[in-house]
Amino acid sequence: MLYINEIDIAKKRLFIRVDCNVPLDKNLNITDDTRIRRILPTINYALDEDAMIILASHLDRPKGKRVPEMSLAPVVRRLRRLLHKEVTLAPDCVGDEVEKMAEEMKPGDIIFLENLRFHPGETANDPEFARELANLTDIYINDAFAVCHRAHASVVGVPKYTKTCAAGFLLKDELTYFHRALEAPARPLVAVIGGSKVSSKLIALENLLNRVDKLIIGGAMANTFLKAFGYNVGNSFVENELLDTAKKLAKKAKHNSVKLYLPVDCVVAEAMEPHAETKIVPVQEVPPKWYILDIGPATTALFKEALQNARTIIWNGPMGAFEMDAFSRGTMAMVSNIADTYALTIVGGGDTDVAIYKAGAADRFSYISTGGGAFVELLEGKTLPGVAALEECAKRIKHE
Ligand code: 3PG
Repeated sequence: MLYINEIDIAKKRLFIRVDCNVPLDKNLNITDDTRIRRILPTINYALDEDAMIILASHLDRPKGKRVPEMSLAPVVRRLRRLLHKEVTLAPDCVGDEVEKMAEEMKPGDIIFLENLRFHPGETANDPEFARELANLTDIYINDAFAVCHRAHASVVGVPKYTKTCAAGFLLKDELTYFHRALEAPARPLVAVIGGSKVSSKLIALENLLNRVDKLIIGGAMANTFLKAFGYNVGNSFVENELLDTAKKLAKKAKHNSVKLYLPVDCVVAEAMEPHAETKIVPVQEVPPKWYILDIGPATTALFKEALQNARTIIWNGPMGAFEMDAFSRGTMAMVSNIADTYALTIVGGGDTDVAIYKAGAADRFSYISTGGGAFVELLEGKTLPGVAALEECAKRIKHE
């Protein structure tokens, strides 16, 4: 794969696929602009090279229709402020007007195309739509790690029809850190996996059991393991159809000499509500009809101990329902316990980053991924379609 600094982009027109799928509140204000900030190094590099920059992104899931609330206008306003520079929002992402705008660009100009997903051709990976986008430039840059797991037109189609392709600095960082964490890690390597469903991380868990030295499981997904081992989990969320699977995963851990850590105590509540009555109980004593909503203090201490000698830690998923203060202690303790280690610490997916930002601890982690689903697919051991497309393109260039 080539990187943006390995190709000649000086004064050239670039199509840069970014992922500015940022959260907006009901007044369309951006509530977290991390994904916009993280593409600045690539944009600034291209500006230094006097390139003409066409940025393209999706926002939310408008399902092929023009949904005004899903316009990229708020993103463009934020980008202007961050760059201290004019950024023009195009009326669409394809069509005569956009082509004309692209043709008239001068070095240093930035155009942001309107939401790619306003066209059904984007998610359908329609070749015609991909060609229309590709016709805007000769050089395709992918700096959109968070959408690299989607085989969409702007992710896998456009690089087929452009002469040169390369990864931007954000994508480069994401892949480099992930490689250091999971493919060539300093050991012991510990994975901390939380969140609610075993089903959504089943393949990732399978894959991790072939690679890690220790696997820590928290969050509601631990309930399925606890129930599989015969504990009563009250009314807690459980995937009953996966009880056998949980047992098989535990068996695989033993077979591969991976030490598996599960909660030994938990915070339970009478209802899944912020002000419900709560208590801390050992996992053997969850009252009938109560809900497990966080790990308890003994579990926090056990998990902390397990992290002590780690040289690499990879973390995905919260330890409990941390969006409610009453059930946030386990996740917040995990933030500081991981941050306090001397390990290389990589975090991604789920709402894990939200917990870290909430704790103001972002700069105490080695790397926080911008990916959700894309990060989980890397954990599953998959090659992301967007990355494969760049590799294909690099091969093509080599043979030309
Ligand atoms: C994300 O937020 O995970 C990416 O932007 C991909 O969005 P999607 O799940 O709507 O494809």
